[in-house]
Order: sequence, then structure tokens, then C-alpha cells
Amino acid sequence: MSMEAVVYQGPHDVDVEEVDEPEIEHPNDVVIDITTTAICGSDLHMYEGRTDADPGIVFGHENMGIVDEVGDGVTTLEEGDRVVLPFNVACGVCKNCENGYTGFCLNVNPGFAGGAYGYVAMGPYKGGQAERLRVPFADFNALKLPEGREHEDSFILLADIFPTGWHGTELANLQPGESVAIFGAGPVGLMAAYSAKIKGAAEIYVVDRVDSRLELAEKHCDATPINFEESDPVEQIKSIHGGGVDKGVDAVGYQAIDPETDVSDDAYDPARENPAVVLNQLIQVVRATGQLGVPGLYVPSDPGAPDEMAAQGRLGIDFGKFFEKGLKVGTGQCNVKEYNRELRDLIIQGRADPSFVVSHRVDLEEAPEMYERFDNREEGVTKVLLEP
Ligand SMILES: NC(=O)c1ccc[n+]([C@@H]2O[C@H](COP(=O)([O-])OP(=O)(O)OC[C@H]3O[C@@H](n4cnc5c(N)ncnc54)[C@H](O)[C@@H]3O)[C@@H](O)[C@H]2O)c1
Ligand SMILES: [Zn+2]
Ligand SMILES: [Zn+2]
Repeated sequence: MSMEAVVYQGPHDVDVEEVDEPEIEHPNDVVIDITTTAICGSDLHMYEGRTDADPGIVFGHENMGIVDEVGDGVTTLEEGDRVVLPFNVACGVCKNCENGYTGFCLNVNPGFAGGAYGYVAMGPYKGGQAERLRVPFADFNALKLPEGREHEDSFILLADIFPTGWHGTELANLQPGESVAIFGAGPVGLMAAYSAKIKGAAEIYVVDRVDSRLELAEKHCDATPINFEESDPVEQIKSIHGGGVDKGVDAVGYQAIDPETDVSDDAYDPARENPAVVLNQLIQVVRATGQLGVPGLYVPSDPGAPDEMAAQGRLGIDFGKFFEKGLKVGTGQCNVKEYNRELRDLIIQGRADPSFVVSHRVDLEEAPEMYERFDNREEGVTKVLLEP
């Protein structure tokens, strides 16, 4: 049996192709019919050829759907259950899983800590930008949702970006009443800003260059928008706030645009990148003894890096300044299971509605066009959901 799936062909090229349908491979598996799957900024690193991803990968680590087949060893799920899957694939019983670090599971990806669906170096798991998906260790990984179609646009965000934005504020140890600067108003940055609002931050600054994204931050997160193309974002924040902020979040990652470079055109221009620029701006803008959270992705190998050092993931970070200020930093993949249950319940109870970030819901067939538009950070394209 075959089904349609989004398959990586090479830099800036994905196709919707026929691939084999997934099957139960182990008694702990379920297979779900995908109802919604999302494109992520993390997919763009692969899409742009900025990782070691080989052609042929089925993309898609943000997945939800209806359980259709159930392995004999699965005890808590049955056919017809509506579930959302953390992008992490985790076993539930290793040392890291037991301690809540499901993003660093020791059993699902031999020789590496952490697994995910449809992602380079994250194990053999196929992505869910397809009609169906195999879910390993299903009892542990699947989060059950209320039946029906309600909150579909919010629940899909539990697979990654809502927990990941929340994780950014946790890594920075953000407390009620504190001020925070968030770099990046992509889906992850917007979810970090929204999480900061829910947690009761006193002041939220969000930095980006895409006006439609900054507008969402202002409207839905009560954030002060800072456009880095206008002038130095650090100076802009310090002049409004009157000095350094308590906490900072990097929701950009290694493909950061350097504000000092000349504006070319509207499309994302790799010639403008400087992988250390956001980290160094955070070191400047956060007050002495403050804390940085870095959910933005950094890689140990970047085939399209601007220089030799960056190609090996080595960045020119102002560590002297970092030390002098006594700063702290937290990094890494989000352990989605640490937060997804509680964030789901905020959605069910009407206390959170992260769906403001969703700009498009389209047929799976439209994936190639939407990858291109999202990759260009086109005005008005924020979070794209695909429906098989
Ligand atoms: N840690 C995790 O578990 C995890 C999970 C999901 C995504 N991520 C990563 O988070 C990052 C953001 O993801 P996204 O989906 O929001 O992607 P995105 O690419 O849409 O968002 C990045 C935003 O940063 C902006 N930007 C670029 N340079 C900047 C600068 N110098 N200052 C401020 N803003 C700048 C861009 O204009 C864009 O709006 C990516 O690196 C992604 O891989 C990490
Ligand atoms: Zn993602
Ligand atoms: Zn594990």
C-alpha cells in the first residue's frame, strides 16, 4: 500500500510523492491517520541544504491524528483516539527519559542522545508530512486529546512550538514580574513571547525584521516590537527599558541575519548570516547575573556556513563579556513531554489560545509552494499547517 508524503529532494526542493505506508513494526507501536501536520523552522535548515540531510527523507516532526492500528503491547490507546505526538521520539525508561529529558533519550537513536520524526541524524523515524505515521513507544509518546475537531489549530502546536517556546522561557528561568528580550518572532519566538505573557512577565521585547510577525507579538503577547533593520536592537531595548533586561531568549539559531549587513531584498539572504550575532546581542542586552535560554538551533556541522569555523559549529561568542557579567545559559532541544499535558489543559480550559500564530492551513499537495513561501519569511506567512 502506498500513500502521499513530503519528500526532500535536495536544497530548496521538496515533492509530494508516493511512499510505502507505515506498518506496526513492534508491539509497542501504533499507526495514526494524520489529521494535521506542520512545517517548522527546523525543517528549513534541512530544506536549505544547511544540514547533512540526504535526499529521500520524509519530512514532518509536528504531527497529530487519529489512532488507526494498535500494536499488541499497547495498553492505553485504542483505535479512534485523537492524539498529538511530541516531535521527540522517546523510550520512557532510560535514565534521561526517567529524569524528564525526553529530548535526549538514550535508546531510540543508537550512538546519539535524542530521536525525532523526519529529521536528519535523529534516527530512522519517518516524518508525518504524509497520510499516516508510525509512532514507536506509543503509550509513552502519544498525548490524548478530546474527541472531535475542536482546537485542532492549537493542539497541533503542542507537538513542538508551544512547548518549545515555553522551554525557551524555562531555560532562561523567567519569573513573574521580570523583563525579557526575545530574539526571533518566528513561530518559536512568538510562542516564547506568549509563554512569557502567560507566566506574568512585566515587559516583553520581541526582535525581528518581518513586520507581520512583530505585529502578532504586539497584538497577542503584549510585546514591544523591535525591528532590527531600523537600528541596533540592543540600543532600542536598552533605551526603552532603561538598561539591561532580566532574561533573554534566542529563538533564531545559527542562521541569524546580521543587522550590520546591508539589506538586500525581502528574501532570506544567506550572505547576511552571522551565526553568533544573536547570542552576542543577548549577552549585551541582558543585565549582569541574568540568564539566557537558547531554543534556537545550533549545529555541529553546517555545509553552507559563512566560514570554516562555523562549518564545524564553532562560533565567535563574546565569552569574556559573558563571564564578566556572571550570566547563565540554558540550551537544547525541548523535552516536549515536560510541558505538553499542562499546555493542552490550558487550551482546553480556554486559558491559552496559541492558534494566532497559524497563518495557513492547506492541502498536503501544496507543501512545495508553502515551503518556498515560509522559507522566504514572506509577510503574512507564519505557521503553515498541512492537511493530508
Ligand atoms: N530547541 C528546540 O527543540 C527547537 C524546536 C523547534 C524549533 N527550533 C529552532 O528554533 C528556531 C526558530 O524556529 P521558527 O520555527 O520560529 O523559525 P523561523 O525561521 O520562521 O524564525 C526565525 C525568525 O528569526 C528572525 N531573525 C533572523 N535573524 C534575526 C536576528 N538577528 N535577530 C532577530 N530575529 C532574527 C527571522 O526573521 C525569523 O522570523 C530555529 O532555529 C529552529 O530550528 C528549536
Ligand atoms: Zn518543529
Ligand atoms: Zn529514553
